[in-house]
Amino acid sequence: MKYKNILVTGGAGFIGSNFIHYIIKKYPETKIINLDALTYAGNLENLKEIENNENYKFIQGDICNEALVDKIVKENKIDLIVHFAAESHVDRSVLDSKDFIKTNVEGTRVLLDVALKNGKIRFHHVSTDEVFGHLGGNDKPFDELTSYNPRSPYSASKAASDHLVRAYFYTHQLPITISNCSNNYGPYQFPEKIIPLFTTNLMEGKKIPIYGTGEAVRDWIYVDDHNRGVMMIIEKGKIGETYCLGADGEKTNLEITGKILEFMGKGEDQIEYVADRKGHDLRYGINASKIKNELGWEPEIEFEDGLKKTIEWYENNQTWWKNIKSGEYQEYYKKQYQ
Ligand code: NAD
Ligand code: DAU
Repeated sequence: MKYKNILVTGGAGFIGSNFIHYIIKKYPETKIINLDALTYAGNLENLKEIENNENYKFIQGDICNEALVDKIVKENKIDLIVHFAAESHVDRSVLDSKDFIKTNVEGTRVLLDVALKNGKIRFHHVSTDEVFGHLGGNDKPFDELTSYNPRSPYSASKAASDHLVRAYFYTHQLPITISNCSNNYGPYQFPEKIIPLFTTNLMEGKKIPIYGTGEAVRDWIYVDDHNRGVMMIIEKGKIGETYCLGADGEKTNLEITGKILEFMGKGEDQIEYVADRKGHDLRYGINASKIKNELGWEPEIEFEDGLKKTIEWYENNQTWWKNIKSGEYQEYYKKQYQ
């Protein structure tokens, strides 16, 4: 890999921590700085195995703090920024969108300006398929030419950040790429998202809350397939371009729930139908032909294998999610870093 010193933002979250594990395994000589504010979603337990690795350093801090980001970039001779940090949960953005605008829009602006002022540092922006809005049952899946039409405060803030990233390419020739990926699942996913929430609720003997009728569709991809795609874009992608990532994994929430119940040996009596999410997007689906044809990326994990592996991980790591559900994970790191 041609980059020596990577700044990963949001590396204590779900996808970012899996990314750091992936990089350390694949490129052990590369130095990684993980800048993360440790919001409710950031958890250093995700990185416990590698916390003493000499090529890895954690810095607790906010991406909106321009002086801090600038200092980190200069002191560590950063030559690549991989930007995961975000407020990521749609339901939270429905309740209060303030932090979403601050982190997802202003935080991205700060990183872009610092990248620009320090010699146009290579910048990869991790984004979502939700910026495209939602599909009807018979619509063609999203691709790179689909118009933006975000419908939740979360997706609107991510759409704004995508536009800003692209604007820095056109205006300032900042060497950027963007990935718009579908729904991820896998280890270390915070148990507020549907797969870890349902899995851990069932382990606790609790009901699983399906919003509305359960007919909404999401397109599922295993987190390692996403991160391999991100790395391929960084290494081989065309500067200024956007790549859609998805694993042809469209499923209704009822189908997902059925599989989780089956793999965990539980019955449908565990389901509780609850009020629908406000403005609930009906369907997401990704056409990933561009990254497949241009960069040779292919997803490697079949949905059922990935789901079994994920459920097994939550079974074997009960302390991890029980500490989250009880709130203890934050207490521990607050003492260490504040
Ligand atoms: P996550 O919520 O698990 O993690 C987000 C991380 O960002 C946390 O560690 C948090 O502490 C950190 N963070 C939040 N605000 C910060 C700030 N101001 N400064 C520094 N750090 C801050 O999210 P995730 O699911 O891992 O998503 C990572 C990225 O991938 C996001 O940009 C998200 O939009 C995108 N994405 C997610 C999915 C998905 O299915 N989860 C799919 C496509 C794209
Ligand atoms: O598409 C990519 C996006 O996927 C990412 O950009 C977001 O960061 C990520 O959170 C995810 O958004 P979703 O809203 O699709 O994920 P969530 O797990 O919250 O919900 C998935 C589906 O399950 C959605 O249709 C709502 C439904 N759901 C969710 C929860 C938490 C339920 O029915 N019950 C629940 O309790």
